[in-house]
Amino acid sequence: MTDSSRANFGSRLGVILATAGSAVGLGNVWRFPYMAGENGGAVFIITYLVCVFLLGIPCIVSEFIIGRHAQANTARAYANASGGNRFWTAVGAMGVITGFLITSYYAVISGWCLQYIYASAAGQLTGDAPAVKAYFGDFMSDPVMPLFWTVVFFAITHFIITRGVQGGIERASKLLMPLLFILLLVIVGASCMLPGAVEGVKFMLLPDASKLSSSLFLSALGQSFYSLSIAMGCLCTYASYFNRETNLVKSAVQISLIDTFVAILAGLMIFPAAFSAGIQPDAGPSLIFITLPTVFQQAFAAMPFVGTIVGFMFYCLLALAALTSLISLHEVSTAFFHEELHISRSRAAIIVTVGCCCIGCLCSLSLGSWEGLQLFGMPLFDLLDFVTGQIFLPIGGFLTCMFIAWRMDRQIVRDQFTNWGTVSKSLYTTYLYLMKYICPLAILVIFLHQFGVL
Ligand code: PHE
Repeated sequence: MTDSSRANFGSRLGVILATAGSAVGLGNVWRFPYMAGENGGAVFIITYLVCVFLLGIPCIVSEFIIGRHAQANTARAYANASGGNRFWTAVGAMGVITGFLITSYYAVISGWCLQYIYASAAGQLTGDAPAVKAYFGDFMSDPVMPLFWTVVFFAITHFIITRGVQGGIERASKLLMPLLFILLLVIVGASCMLPGAVEGVKFMLLPDASKLSSSLFLSALGQSFYSLSIAMGCLCTYASYFNRETNLVKSAVQISLIDTFVAILAGLMIFPAAFSAGIQPDAGPSLIFITLPTVFQQAFAAMPFVGTIVGFMFYCLLALAALTSLISLHEVSTAFFHEELHISRSRAAIIVTVGCCCIGCLCSLSLGSWEGLQLFGMPLFDLLDFVTGQIFLPIGGFLTCMFIAWRMDRQIVRDQFTNWGTVSKSLYTTYLYLMKYICPLAILVIFLHQFGVL
């Protein structure tokens, strides 16, 4: 499918905002702060920055190269770029499957954000810490509400996806991303003005070298890949909508900067408020749903109304960030079904929405009301998270480096990297070196480490 009628993003800004929308998600606002909190703050953040710039950006560029060259969905992109080789086609297909599975459970957490928007508006997140914790527990074990919000989230995503690449994805990103920035800045402002907030800022900026460890490095690397949407088919699929003028390296740098900036701001939103309220920010994954409502309440105890508004805005922000990421995840499979089954985009989108919605609902149930829904001793939700994040992601990332460095036609890689010689070639040699040795080695190390081999 390399026909000239294939959809494209309409503007440079559209490219940046849509792709940054994919990258900026729950990973930035939910995962990054708790990981930084658990790993000692500033040291983690510095290590994270090194990972983003040394390893993340080259990997983004690689996916861009494959996607823009092939002008097709991820499975076909790897097939085209390898001359139809079966193994590499399977690697591309693995990207699509990873995207499909993540879509399913990502929508579940996104749905929780909607519940919390409602709950904060309705003033239900008040009371002491145990009460807020119980609220989350009750919500999770409710058989209906989590499913309801998952379905609502899918419906919104479906609506946007069926409007197409320019009319749906690009338009939504141009509207949602600025909104997200405004909300973020307002909350950071409110949080940093609290008494004692400066301790939180210090926690983020002053490194404590004693916290440095191999597992910190590996967490930072894993987080950077997750946050930049690497190895899930999203970047490759979006790049297939880029035109010949899009400067791949510059775009990758800009997207990474936006993503990192949002992650840091998310930290600046959460840590100052947490320190001001005297709450340790190392609560792990439950940080934003269990600890944070209490943090906002206590931090703004003198002005309860402001606390409620800030809480409400926070969950709106989270839902927006999740939505732009979910759109990109959904698009990976939609493009695949659309092009491979030769059906219309809207039919393809229906297959994805219905399929992912069913899996998503099962995942959601596995966390609460249907605890028996376990495979290999883990609730379905955790299993999908584990398989996609810890197995498919590193394997996909590793093989993509191998593909670019050792298998794909060198001339094509160079042409794509330099936009057919129109942009500087000076970085090309460094890029190739990173792809050949440094990136695959780093990914291999994380992979083996998490299974206790290293
Ligand atoms: N990068 C997104 C985030 O930070 C998550 C995501 C992963 C989105 C993979 C798309 C693909 O939340």
